[in-house]
Amino acid sequence: LQSLNVRLERQNLSYEIRIGSNVRLEAGKAIRQLRKTAQRVALITNQKVFELYGSDVIRTLKDAGFSTPHWLMSDGERFKNFRSLEQAVDFLARNGLERGDVVLALGGGVVGDLAGFAAAVYMRGIALVQMPTTLLAQIDSSVGGKTGINLPVGKNLVGAFHQPDCVLIDTQALTSLASRELVSGFCEALKQSAVASRALFQQTTSFLSTLRSGKKALTSAEMEKLIAAQCKFKASVVRADEKEATNRNDNRSRRILNFGHTTGHALEAVTGYRRFRHGEAVGHGMLVAGEISKSMGLLNSSELESLREGVRLCGPLPNAGDLNQNSIIEALSHDKKRDAGQIKWVLLEGIGHPRIVDGRELSPRLLRAALRKGLEKQRI
Ligand SMILES: NC(=O)c1ccc[n+]([C@@H]2O[C@H](COP(=O)([O-])OP(=O)(O)OC[C@H]3O[C@@H](n4cnc5c(N)ncnc54)[C@H](O)[C@@H]3O)[C@@H](O)[C@H]2O)c1
Repeated sequence: LQSLNVRLERQNLSYEIRIGSNVRLEAGKAIRQLRKTAQRVALITNQKVFELYGSDVIRTLKDAGFSTPHWLMSDGERFKNFRSLEQAVDFLARNGLERGDVVLALGGGVVGDLAGFAAAVYMRGIALVQMPTTLLAQIDSSVGGKTGINLPVGKNLVGAFHQPDCVLIDTQALTSLASRELVSGFCEALKQSAVASRALFQQTTSFLSTLRSGKKALTSAEMEKLIAAQCKFKASVVRADEKEATNRNDNRSRRILNFGHTTGHALEAVTGYRRFRHGEAVGHGMLVAGEISKSMGLLNSSELESLREGVRLCGPLPNAGDLNQNSIIEALSHDKKRDAGQIKWVLLEGIGHPRIVDGRELSPRLLRAALRKGLEKQRI
């Protein structure tokens, strides 16, 4: 079992992240410690996750004296929308959730974002506990307090910052994940580690090597330690720049978490969000950012090779080498994370040393060459 505390000084707030195999079985006790007088814990999840883990979670909540209304949202990114939000808050109201009660989000990032946003706006905010069940949600989306929904014109355009009361991470949940979801999560883990430090990068890639060779399991103590280290890093970035200040471009701003995302988003857009899981697109995006960094003289060949090896260890990615380069470049210019109309590339000056570079500093020729090299078919 790993435990860490996230502190947000400005709000005088802190919460615990608990990580372990079978942590879900202790959820009731953990929430009771935090909310002594709460009567209801409203569970928001989806059918797939409910069938896997719902009965365990409901049992532990009941044992701790909570009543446990539950609502299953439809599964999939396209349901992270206003309609589901309306259904979620309606569910809370119809079950008489009060200010002192709790919303429990059990699922991947979609459930976490939607349920988190419902908790943020219902009665102007009630307590939220995140129980992330995908790797991406465990190392990234459940930490940091961003919640929200998509609009037809773009992802995550409506939302709120709403910090959880605690985050309960059960590594057992990883064992039922589809393999592409795992690859996608590991790409995000690699991304965080590449901008964090050489030590976290090393920890992430060596765990991946032992996992691939069958020497370590997803429920091992090493995995718990890796998730803890990833959450610690994410929390440290959030602490320093809680609301992603738009005027910050330094190497500890929240923006560095977008490493690999500029190209990643473009790849998702040009394939109509059908070919890649998000993390897989980020995997390719990191390689493009690595190539740009090398061409600009920021990253040396051996560090670029470590990055390539890291992406390889995450697992196979869908091919991106056949995509039309002009369409990708066109899509890059629509990136939502632009600032005053300019793309902000997160590049590397070395593993663990991100640098934010204005798109105008890149020549079109350099960009095209980096896209070509970065998106070449993976050698697995
Ligand atoms: N709030 C943030 O800071 C933040 C950060 C990154 C991503 N996100 C958001 O996260 C979302 C993506 O999250 P995701 O990658 O977890 O996708 P997801 O929530 O769609 O989950 C992927 C699939 O795995 C299934 N699943 C979940 N847990 C499972 C388990 N233990 N076993 C078997 N199947 C399981 C889900 O039902 C779904 O079909 C996006 O909407 C993205 O915008 C938010």
